[in-house]
Amino acid sequence: MRALFWCPWPNADEWLALLRQKGPELEFLISSEIDAPETIEAAIVWQPPSGLLERLSGLRCILVLGAGVDHLLAPGMRLPDVPLVRIVDPVMAERMASWVLAAVLFGHRQLDVYVRQQRERSWRRHAARDTADVRVGVLGLGAMGSACASRLAQVGYRVAGWSRTPKALAGIEGFTGSETWPSFLARSDFLICLLPLTPETRGILNARTFAALPEGAFVINAGRGGHLIESDLLSALDDDHLAGAVLDVFEEEPLPAQHPLWAHPKVLITPHIASITNPETGAEQIIAAMRAIRRGEMPPNTVDRRHHY
Ligand code: NAP
Ligand code: GLV
Repeated sequence: MRALFWCPWPNADEWLALLRQKGPELEFLISSEIDAPETIEAAIVWQPPSGLLERLSGLRCILVLGAGVDHLLAPGMRLPDVPLVRIVDPVMAERMASWVLAAVLFGHRQLDVYVRQQRERSWRRHAARDTADVRVGVLGLGAMGSACASRLAQVGYRVAGWSRTPKALAGIEGFTGSETWPSFLARSDFLICLLPLTPETRGILNARTFAALPEGAFVINAGRGGHLIESDLLSALDDDHLAGAVLDVFEEEPLPAQHPLWAHPKVLITPHIASITNPETGAEQIIAAMRAIRRGEMPPNTVDRRHHY
C-alpha cells in the first residue's frame, strides 16, 4: 500500500522515519515524490491544502495526524468519500489532562493575580476557595474531555460535563441537550472547552454563554479557535464579569503579533501545545489503520461525518 505523507510540523522527518520503521511493508511518499497519483491508497495528513487529496483517485482512507478533523471537513475541502480516521491516544489525553489541570489551578489559586503583583513587588493576600467548593464544567466528554473531567474530579473539584449524548462517568455530573445548557453554565466557575469544531459548536463561547456563567468565572479553551468569539471574551473580561481566560487555540494561528489578546492582563496564552500528538504511539495507530484497510476492515476511530467529528 502506498501512502502520501503531508505534515507541516517541524518534526515531520521524525514521523516519516517512525512510519517507515513500524510499517516496513508499506510505502510512504511526500507530495513531490508522487509520480502516479492514482496509485496512492492512503493519505496521512495534517491541514493539507485544498485540492491535494482530490487528485488521488485511488484513495481508500485518510489518516489524520491528530485528534481534530475540522480542518479536513471545512467547507471547500472537497474531501473524497473514504474512511477518515483520527488519532485517539491515552498519551494525548494525559497531555491534555495535565494542561487543563494547570490552567484550572492557575485561575483557582489566583497565580495570574500574584504574577501581576510580583512585578509591582506588592505583598497582598487574597482569599481562595477550597477545591471542593470550585465547580468546573467541561464541554465535551470524549477522549480529551472525559480524561480531563476525571483528573479534575480526582483532585477534588466539583466537575460536570456537557456532551451531545448522555455519558455516565464516575464522579462527573452529566448534562446533555439545550434545555440543560443554562443550568450547566450557571454552576460552572471554570468553563473548559474540549469540543470538536462543528457547525453546531462554532462560536459556542460567546457573549450569551459568558453572561450565563457565575460572576468571576474563568474560561479555558483548548478545543479550537473557532469555538470562541474573541471580541465577546475581551468585553466580558473588561466588564469584570469574567476573572480570566487561558487559551491554547485561536481563529488565526499563529496569533498575530498585534492581536489584543496577547497583551490582555487577564489572559494566558499557550501556542496550541495543550496536547501535541505523540509520534511513537501515533505512528503505531496509523500503521494499524492502514493494515486494517488493506484487510478490508473499518479501522477504529473512524469519524462519523454526519456529526462532523
Ligand atoms: P471526541 O472524542 O470526538 O469527543 C467530542 C466530545 O464532544 C464528545 O463528548 C461529544 O459528545 C461532544 N460533542 C460534540 N458535538 C457536540 C454538541 N453539538 N453538543 C454537545 N456535545 C458535543 O473528541 P476529542 O478527541 O475529545 O477531541 C475534542 C477536540 O479537542 C478536538 O476536536 C480538537 O478540536 C481538540 N484538541 C485540541 C488539542 C490541543 O492541543 N489544543 C489536542 C487535541 C484535540 P458525544 O460523547 O455525545 O459524542
Ligand atoms: C490538535 O489540536 C489535535 O486536534 O490533535
